[in-house]
Amino acid sequence: MRINKYLALCGVSSRRNSEVFVVEGKVKVNGRTVTDLSTDIKDTDIVTVNGEKVTPVEQHIYIMLNKPKGYVCTTSDEYGRKNVLQLLDAEYASKRIFPVGRLDFDTEGLLLLTTDGDLANRIMHPHNEVPKTYVAKIEGDISEQELNKLRGGVILDGVKTKKCRAKLKDFTDGISRVEVVITEGRNRQVRRMFDSINREVIFLKRTAIGELKLGNLYRGESRVLGDKEIEYLKKL
Ligand code: URA
Repeated sequence: MRINKYLALCGVSSRRNSEVFVVEGKVKVNGRTVTDLSTDIKDTDIVTVNGEKVTPVEQHIYIMLNKPKGYVCTTSDEYGRKNVLQLLDAEYASKRIFPVGRLDFDTEGLLLLTTDGDLANRIMHPHNEVPKTYVAKIEGDISEQELNKLRGGVILDGVKTKKCRAKLKDFTDGISRVEVVITEGRNRQVRRMFDSINREVIFLKRTAIGELKLGNLYRGESRVLGDKEIEYLKKL
């Protein structure tokens, strides 16, 4: 990580102002004064400012997981089922990392995990209407008329779902694959929307949150988000 960003994370000053500390020769890395703003800091480096050691106040973790079915997203499960946190590298086990929202036990796909409560709240808050994209498999073919019902909103627990996008991606071997984009996060929403039109979802996968796509992560695999992806999420 660039030295100015590192110093800002340590609470020394803003990124821009931290550069002044560097240029003025007040910053040492592993005992040597650095004035080059392109210096990168590694986790193992010892950084001092005016002779005092500085460490990041809180460096949040942002991870994308391809959740397989058969895992729960809650940290304590009354049935003792496997938890998504068990899929992460051991180095994260001690961190206060948690899933952003939930995917059902039987649902797979894109799940974000983070230590950043503010960001998690922003993504989940209904007011922000962050679009989530799912692919649902349904037995048999599905008509435009049925999809129109989903698009216009269906009643769940006495409350109409918000307008959403729904399109048939393909129909192969008697199975329809439907892409649904919803901006709410009600309990088992996609499954219950299909239930309401008397169609059962036999497979459900989340493929995107906003512009952030699952891509080609294998089931059960996770990766740390890149800076651009984190910046994007912070603007949602
Ligand atoms: N809708 C569902 O039905 N299940 C999920 O896990 C997510 C959205």
